[in-house]
Amino acid sequence: MNAPVAPIPHALLASGANAAPFKPAIAAGELPAGGMARVTFGDLDVLLAHTPDGLVAIDDRCPHMSAPLSIGELEGCLIACPLHNGQFDLRTGEVTRMPTTGGLDADGVYHPVWTPEGRDAKPDPPGIKAEARRLTRVRRIRYYPVRVVDGVIEVAVPQP
Ligand code: FES
Repeated sequence: MNAPVAPIPHALLASGANAAPFKPAIAAGELPAGGMARVTFGDLDVLLAHTPDGLVAIDDRCPHMSAPLSIGELEGCLIACPLHNGQFDLRTGEVTRMPTTGGLDADGVYHPVWTPEGRDAKPDPPGIKAEARRLTRVRRIRYYPVRVVDGVIEVAVPQP
């Protein structure tokens, strides 16, 4: 398989990844178009996704509350989280659908709890858990350099 590598969005390279050595992850044949895989390096779980734009490597942690995106749904370049249904565009790293819990987006703008179309917005209940949801900020997705060498996908990860 000669999948291209998708470009990393501007300023979203993971910290330390530019100087990190490439490490073998999985055989390229194990990641068909539209596929996702979790690969673990030490205590770092990386999500590999084979999108229409090419291969992408990011943390396998939702930028909302860290659920594993690798068991979510990949549609084209959009990845949906299995926990609160947030959706993210792997071409840009941007949120395309806020988590159902609402809260703060990456720019710190508040979004209310999701409500079905046509219904009044649910008032946030009082209490520390609702406050935690309100104050949880969706982080920016960070990307790792990825390449294919001799049929093996390699990822540059700043971990032993
Ligand atoms: S943990 Fe992914 S949307 Fe909440």
